[in-house]
This record gives sequence, C-alpha cells and structure tokens, in this order.
Amino acid sequence: MRSHHCGNLNIKNLNEEVTICGWIHRRRDHGGVIFLDVRDSTGIVQVVVNPENEQAFKIAEDIRSEYVIKAFGQVEGRPEDSQNAQLTTGDIEIKCSSIELLNEAETPAFPLDQSSEVGEDVRLKNRTLDLRRPEMQNNLRLKSNLTKSVRDYLENNNFVDIETPILTKATPEGARDYLVPSRTSAGNFFALPQSPQLFKQMLMISGFDRYYQIARCFRDEDLRADRQPEFSQIDIEASFVEEQDVMNFAEEMISESFKKILNKKLNKLPRLKWHDAMERYGCDKPDLRNPLQLIELSNIFKKEEFKVFSDPANDNNSRIAALIVPEGHKIGRGQIDRYTEFVKEFGAKGLAYIRVEGDNVSDLASPILKYLSEECLTNIMTTLNVKKGDLIFFGAGKEKIVNDYMSRLITKLGDDLDLLEGDFAACWITEFPMFEEASDGSLTSLHHPFTCPFETDLEKLGKLNPLEINSKAYDMVINGVEIGGGSIRIHNKSLQEKVFQLLGLSEAEAQTKFGFFLKTLTTGCPPHGGIAFGLDRLAMLMVGADSIRDVIAFPKTQSALCLLTEAPGSVTDESLDELHISRKED
Ligand code: AMO
Ligand code: AMP
Repeated sequence: MRSHHCGNLNIKNLNEEVTICGWIHRRRDHGGVIFLDVRDSTGIVQVVVNPENEQAFKIAEDIRSEYVIKAFGQVEGRPEDSQNAQLTTGDIEIKCSSIELLNEAETPAFPLDQSSEVGEDVRLKNRTLDLRRPEMQNNLRLKSNLTKSVRDYLENNNFVDIETPILTKATPEGARDYLVPSRTSAGNFFALPQSPQLFKQMLMISGFDRYYQIARCFRDEDLRADRQPEFSQIDIEASFVEEQDVMNFAEEMISESFKKILNKKLNKLPRLKWHDAMERYGCDKPDLRNPLQLIELSNIFKKEEFKVFSDPANDNNSRIAALIVPEGHKIGRGQIDRYTEFVKEFGAKGLAYIRVEGDNVSDLASPILKYLSEECLTNIMTTLNVKKGDLIFFGAGKEKIVNDYMSRLITKLGDDLDLLEGDFAACWITEFPMFEEASDGSLTSLHHPFTCPFETDLEKLGKLNPLEINSKAYDMVINGVEIGGGSIRIHNKSLQEKVFQLLGLSEAEAQTKFGFFLKTLTTGCPPHGGIAFGLDRLAMLMVGADSIRDVIAFPKTQSALCLLTEAPGSVTDESLDELHISRKED
C-alpha cells in the first residue's frame, strides 16, 4: 500500500516519489495551499496540497483530523524559514500529486496534541485515540523491548518458558481472588491466579530445573497508581539454588535490560537487611536516590525526664528516629509547622526539632531544649555528628507509626528540597520477617506461606516467637518502588505444614486448599527458589510514567472498571442458571 513510513522520510529521499499512509494529525489551510500533517507509527510528515492539483485539493478541502489517507507525491526540501526542528522530517515535505481517502473519522473526543489537559477518564474511554499519541506509542514499544530483553536473557540462560493455568485454585499472595463459576461442577469456582507460585514450584518438582513465564496475574485489591487488578509478572523459578544465586541472575537480567533499553548502567545493587532498612529508612522500599536517613537515638533518651522521648526510649515496641536535614536552616518556622501537620496525618503526635547554629551545645536552638539535660544534648551532637546549619527532626513513638511517618517525611523532604541524586538507584532488601501481625492479632505471611524460614529445624522453630523468625526472601527495589520479590521455598512437607499451622490453618483447611501441593512435596522435591518482577511496574519506571495505566494498553480504573468496554457487565438470568448461581435479593 505504501512505499515509506511517514517518520522515516528525510533529506536523503529528496526528489523521490513516495506513497505514505496515515492519519491526519493536523490540517492547515493557508489561503489556497493546504498543509496536512500526516502521522503513522513512525512519526509525522508534512504533505503540501496545491489548488492546481484539483483531485487532491478537493479531497484535502474536506479532510478532518484523524481521517485516514494515502498520499502520493514527490519529496521536496523545505525553504529554510519553514523548516521544523521538532520533527525528524522537518526539513522536507511531500508535494502531493494524489490523495486517496481510506476512511473518515468522527471529530475526535480530544485533540491528540493537547492530551495533558484531558481527564484520564476521557482518555480511557477513547483509548484507541489515546494510544495513537506518540507518548503512549513509545511507552508500549519500550515495554515490548523490555519483554524481549528479559526473554532473551532467560532463554540464553536455559530457562524454559512454560504456561500455567489461568483457571485454577486460589494462590495466596495477600489479595482477594477473582472467582469464575464452573458450569460443569455445580457450586464450585475456579480462582484466577494471583501468581503462578504453586505451579512454578511444581515445575521444579517435575524436573524442569529452570522455568520462566511472562505471566498474567489477577488480584482483587485496593488499586493505587502502581497497581492493577490484572498485570504481568516476569515469573522465574530455579532448582538447586540459594538466595545468592537467584539474586545474582535476577540482577544481571535487570541490569542488562537497563543497559539495552535505556543505555543506563545500574551499579552493583547494595543488599540491605530488612531490619536495617526499617531502621535507616523507616520502610522496606527506600528510594536510595534520596540521601536522607534515620538514626536511632533511643539509647540517648532513656534517662531523660522529657516523657515524650523517655517513654518510647524505654519501650521495646517504640523508637526515636532522628532525621538530619543538611542546610536545614533554610527551612523556616512556617514550613516546619507544615511538616508537623503532614506527619500528624499519619499518626505522629508532634515533630520535635533542633536547629544547629554552631559547634557547641549552646549553639542549639529548639523549643524542647529546656526539657533535655546538657549530657543528652552533647550526646545528640556527637552521635549525629551534626554540622552548623543542620536541622534535626525527631520522631518518637510506636515503631510502626514512627517508621511510617518518618519515611513519608524523608520522601517529602527529598522532593521539596530537590535532594534526589541520579536517575535510578536500585537495591536488594533481604531477610524479611516470615510473619507479621494482622490487626486482629493473627499471623500473616509477609511474602507468602511457601517462603523458607532461616530456621528449618521444626523443634527449634516451634519454640521461637513467630514474629522473630526471618525468612529467605528478597525484594528488588528501584527508586522506592518494589519491582520484584521472591524467596527460597520450603521443600519439606512437614515444614510447610508447620508454617500453615502457624498461620492458623487447621489441618483440614490446609488439606482442602493445598493438599495437592503438599502431596507433590513428598515425591522428591528439590531445594528451589525464584522471583517475580512486575513487568508493568518496571516499564513504568523505565518510561518515567506516574501511573501504571500509562504502560498498559487497556487498563482498569481505580475502581477496577474498563471504561472502554464497560466491563464488568451484567449477565442474563439464563447465564446465571447455567452456572448454578442465583441472584441475592436486596
Ligand atoms: P509479589 O506478590 O511480590 O510476589 O509480586 C511480584 C511483583 O509483581 C508486581 N505486582 C504488581 N504489579 C502491578 N499490579 C499489582 N497489583 C501487583 N502486585 C504485584 C510487583 C511485585 O514486586 N509469587 C511471588 C513471587 C515469588 O515469590 O517468586 C509474587 O507474586 O512488582
Ligand atoms: P509537647 O510537650 O506535646 O508540647 O511537645 C513538645 C515538642 O515535642 C513539640 O515540638 C512537639 O511537636 C514535639 N513532640 C510531641 N510529641 C512528639 C513525638 N511523639 N515525636 C516527636 N516529637 C514530638
């Protein structure tokens, strides 16, 4: 149909006769001469239609935005004063000889070049228009390149691509399941996989040694900017491996992709133990581009009379975290009040601060000085090694709450003071606790129940406080986003049963939910482990998008709706009957 793509034409094609196809990006009528910006997947080229050419001119007169055309003509150089440096084709144009109208288009719901002013709902409803925009085209092409890059790496390293079922049984990854009623098994339901976790483990038991899959996952959970109810994982598993092995090849794969796609070199990833990350950053997803860190000061305040500090200092579940802001003297009183209000939204009772105006205790300035002993103030200065001009914030209280608001404060200060250094900073977080306490006091898995604890001796394990058991789990974090997570798995049936028991599953429940899997563990299960990366999150990070929806062609909204197809939709009573489902009367 065409001889060239629009965006590929340049001065080298001068005087050639070319045929191009594409959409009308813009039409300008310059009193007699009509200029058409024609766009295809490669870019935009200008087509000039003169009135002398009656056939083409007549069509061009009626052409509107987003009409689809085929144009034939000769490539000419543009006069210097009308060259457009914004376009790769900006120094040429096509002098049009004929136009064929391939299809008309209704007036677009929004002008493609002004999409930033358009609400996201409008973009999602009219997604075929939105996806024509160069930005969206680039995002999805980058994601395709990323997929190819990881596939190449994994294929070159003997990983086997194996599909696992979509209609399956529940896999616990901490979200609600999407359920699919069975027509042939009355009253029973399939669950869509939250991840292929159990299947990939069973593939190791089946002797495949190294597996991967670009796997669709489904999770019915509260959505955020970096979460979708269905998304893709780069899912990987390997046999006869330890944590170091998985982290090494996963890191190599990600570094290779950053190099190939963005030409960015990721430094060797630092490895941070979970407890250290929580102490230093207040969270397990630190953005290492941000130099701010927390320093634990409980020891200094144990004997002080100031209860705001001495109470948490003497309580095991509390902490006192200091945060030094270099050059913090530039932060005025009003701004400190705003930061105090900010942390209060997340449960802080206050935000004490001290200004350092010189090298001595007498150079400190703060409303709380009067409550603290001179020894304590000296200790603060030496422990924190402060410098003139520093501002120190203090978060004191229950560890979980302090960690939450102080980590948010680190992020906020990083943005406000423009402290982030470099484009990408990646790290590993390791040795996660095996369990955490849910709000009702029960235990839940921090990763998933198949993660191997460090202590595998059942007798000793039974004697430990479950909250103190650490696991062989690791996450990869880039720029404060968790982009991948995995672990060494439990390969022993009794240990797996013990973990189910600690999680409060009765033997009967464990059997109903995971009996099939427990049985496979007794058939000769090799030690194994793996990891899964969020493909969409990784793409989002690479293109610098704020929302995961900008790297997914047909995403869902925050309320898990597809505005384009209007899914989910209603079904007839007949369909429900076939599925043995009756409607609940309200
Ligand atoms: P996990 O639940 O940590 O681990 O998921 C792995 C990675 O998948 C991405 N991810 C998501 N991306 C978009 N939308 C979501 N709703 C979403 N949820 C998760 C994240 C995350 O790091 N089976 C284990 C992996 C393993 O142990 O090997 C698992 O699924 O980037
Ligand atoms: P108060 O005695 O409540 O007026 O607090 C004295 C100072 O300590 C104020 O600057 C408060 O913002 C601060 N403050 C109070 N509670 C906390 C807390 N839990 N953590 C950090 N600072 C606090």
